[in-house]
Amino acid sequence: MARKYLIETFGCQMNVHDSERFAGLLEQAGYEAAADLSEADLVLLNTCSVRERAAEKLFSRLGEDPIAARVDGSRPVIAVAGCVAQQEGRAILRRAPYVDVIVGTQAARQLPALVEQALASGRAQFDVDRYEDVSFPLGVARRGDPVKAYVTILEGCNDHCAYCVVPSTRGRERMRSKADILAEVQEAVAGGRREIQLLGQIVNDYQAPDDPACDFPALLEAVDAVRGVERIRFASPHPRHASERLIAAIRDLPHVCKHVHLPIQSGSTRVLQLMRRRHTREDYLRLVDALRHAVPAVAISTDLIVGFPGETLEDFECSLSLVAAVRFESMFSFKYSERPNTLAARRMPDDVGGEEKARRLAALHDVQREIQMEGYRAAVGGVFDVLVDSVSRRRAQEVAGRTTGNVVVNLPGRREWLGRTLRVRIVGAGSNSLRGEAAEVGD
Ligand code: SAH
Ligand code: SF4
Ligand code: F3S
Repeated sequence: MARKYLIETFGCQMNVHDSERFAGLLEQAGYEAAADLSEADLVLLNTCSVRERAAEKLFSRLGEDPIAARVDGSRPVIAVAGCVAQQEGRAILRRAPYVDVIVGTQAARQLPALVEQALASGRAQFDVDRYEDVSFPLGVARRGDPVKAYVTILEGCNDHCAYCVVPSTRGRERMRSKADILAEVQEAVAGGRREIQLLGQIVNDYQAPDDPACDFPALLEAVDAVRGVERIRFASPHPRHASERLIAAIRDLPHVCKHVHLPIQSGSTRVLQLMRRRHTREDYLRLVDALRHAVPAVAISTDLIVGFPGETLEDFECSLSLVAAVRFESMFSFKYSERPNTLAARRMPDDVGGEEKARRLAALHDVQREIQMEGYRAAVGGVFDVLVDSVSRRRAQEVAGRTTGNVVVNLPGRREWLGRTLRVRIVGAGSNSLRGEAAEVGD
């Protein structure tokens, strides 16, 4: 009988896509997906280290009984992958001695061999070496989404923002070839995917190693021209590298969604400098103006950190006023969390305090919630293109999709609509999604 695997994923979109790659590698090695933990011969935990709470999830998960030992005393092989594996390496064994395999972010392809070696030797195996190669065999990843496909275009980051662990867990920035990226886009479309999500730590740093003329806007153009691609999204661009050509690409390319996720991190130029973001509040506001001028309907979302070391009340007020001024369509905000191997951890004491961070986060949420609700209410009565991407698990005859601006719309519908773009009339607004009705549906 084939051995069975189960993967649990804790991280960002790239981490989710890495899990799709691991699934494919294991299936190539003869494994099958397990229905649940009780039948798994191998459990792979794909971890995230971006904030302390995310990293601790690994150890709380490892501490739970079912994963450590079954009633009959047997237990699955336990493998740890992802950013915590890369960061901690062998040290994971000190806190969790029963882990069998530790595989770093750049050594993914070694997973099946490491599992075999662990089984044969009865000893823990690990590989956290820095492999520079970011190619990945075509057609191996087991995509979990029927409509959307992640395609990694670059891995790693050379920016070293003061708070961020990612450059140490993902390594130096490495570009995938344009040929590989386009082949994967074609393969995803041939497999029925309609939306391509290009992934990288700073996507707009992209420079094709196999085509000197191909930077990120040129790559968007090439992906846009692939037949069958209906939508393109990308995450994340860095404001510092957002060029006029990128703005023009968002304006002109028919399949590129009118949505940009543009992390700001802080509204205070002083804090942005401490963070080593290398742009000012004014640069960002100018960029937003340029984007909205070129693409009036563009939706802009962001990431924001509160309580970075040295953030005064005045600095925080700058974040609040920036959020009010830009009116983001959505925002992910976080309490600053000190991470190993970062400039801030070495030089900047975490001095804002937990309660104060929580207060600032709540204040930010209040402002954002109001802005978002106003936007949602204004959408009621309008008609939008919605790409249907999921079927409701809770309600029969209900589907969900997104507008090009990335707002979730729930509507009555059928499973056969998956992957179709419909004209949808908005009839109501919830706190995190809209309600709609298909305006016209052919069969
Ligand atoms: N590559 C992405 C960022 C990935 S991390 C980019 O450069 O845009 C996702 C978000 O987590 C960041 O944008 C930041 O807002 C947040 N983040 C990163 N490190 C953090 C830390 N130490 N504490 C709190 N939030 C953090
Ligand atoms: Fe982290 Fe900054 Fe690189 Fe983004 S750009 S991954 S926030 S170091
Ligand atoms: Fe987390 Fe690593 Fe992604 S730290 S956010 S899983 S790159």
